[in-house]
Amino acid sequence: MRLSVIGCGYLGAVHAAAMASIGHDVVGIDVDTDKVASLAAGRAPFYEPGLQPILEAGLESGRLSFSTDPAQVKGATVHFIGVGTPQRKDGHAADLTYVNAAVDALIPYLAPGDIVAGKSTVPVGTAADLAKRIAPTGATLVWNPEFLREGYAVKDTIEPDRIVIGIEAGSDGERAADLLREVYHTAVATDTPYIVTDLATAELVKVAANAFLATKISFINAMAEIAEVVGADVTDLADAIGHDERIGRKFLGAGVGFGGGCLPKDIRAFSARAEELGRGDSVAFLREVDAINLRRRDRVVDVLAEALGGAVYQKRIAVLGAAFKPLSDDIRDSPALDVAVRLHGFGARVRVTDPQAIDNARRAQPQLEYVADRADAIRDADAVVVVTEWDEYRREMTPAELAELTDGRIIIDGRNCLDAAAWRAAGWTYIGMGRP
Ligand code: UDX
Repeated sequence: MRLSVIGCGYLGAVHAAAMASIGHDVVGIDVDTDKVASLAAGRAPFYEPGLQPILEAGLESGRLSFSTDPAQVKGATVHFIGVGTPQRKDGHAADLTYVNAAVDALIPYLAPGDIVAGKSTVPVGTAADLAKRIAPTGATLVWNPEFLREGYAVKDTIEPDRIVIGIEAGSDGERAADLLREVYHTAVATDTPYIVTDLATAELVKVAANAFLATKISFINAMAEIAEVVGADVTDLADAIGHDERIGRKFLGAGVGFGGGCLPKDIRAFSARAEELGRGDSVAFLREVDAINLRRRDRVVDVLAEALGGAVYQKRIAVLGAAFKPLSDDIRDSPALDVAVRLHGFGARVRVTDPQAIDNARRAQPQLEYVADRADAIRDADAVVVVTEWDEYRREMTPAELAELTDGRIIIDGRNCLDAAAWRAAGWTYIGMGRP
């Protein structure tokens, strides 16, 4: 099928390449000329495992192309909208500028029978408005939320754990939902749950899923706060409650908290939308979820200061990790980078390293010192802080390696990803999050 994808960021670029990899003819459209040039030349503009090979293969096959010209969408049967919906600068609501611009750009080229499938995360009610706007073209709007995780985006796109299609009652939606089965033919062939709902439900599914995940992480971080007072171990607690199938161990990783381009802004936008709907009380707990999450960043700074005798001022601190999570170069709302910025603000001499995210981090926070090699970050440091659980730190880094680089013997494990016993046995002051 011929498809277009508007927006070629973490979501759209992966979607375009993944759809080409399962046999479709795809054009990706973006207003960013550098991004389009990079994609068209076969260079993934960001780090996402598995994207590079499907990008190259798609371009080589002739089934995948990229352009800044929206006219190139002509002839596509389904047009996906995958642009960003960041937090507004003046508040917590979602900024719909890019979604509206994408729809404006599409409208002149839509033909009767075309399908516009929204994938961006939007405040509930947005899809119904957009449906009205595109109705005069004879195209049909459906909402098809995206659940991909960065780092696993290719797999999550090709093998999602569910497909949700929101359609408008009384529209051409049934036909659209059937056509999208053909688009997602590989996932449909493996009996992936295919859930057809109304537009509002589809929009809500996405924000509800992210609100739940954020709540789960903040729940365990709240337990970490209690554990810190009574000397309990939140990782053992998580293991123990996680054995209950109703609870499950996933997303019970206590530490420096969640970040990224989705969870933080999505829970804020959800709260803002609920307020507008007169139901702010229903999700008032999300404000607490956000507050618990942000407190974890302070906690890392506090335990570090305490371990260093009361202050981080003038201390040399190696910050291992800048990305909001491993397998990503994304630093949007990254707890790791935020911790580095806070330490710098308190007068610490911070050196930040990360296997993938240094360029993005430097652009966002140029005042910090960055080094590519973790040894250079650690050399002569008074303390080492692990804030992104890359395998490079979690599995490969040993107390012996660090002992050769520095006389400092303090390691803060902001992700509870290190072997506490091994570090302590080697003479280090090891401090985890919510652990004695
Ligand atoms: C998330 C959702 O998982 C995905 O379904 C949605 O489409 C987009 O938002 P992503 O932002 O890629 O995906 O990251 P995710 O893997 O969910 O992690 C989010 C944050 O939570 C990261 O900062 C991660 O480090 C943190 N996290 C995750 C924890 O602190 N503890 C955990 O146990 C799990």
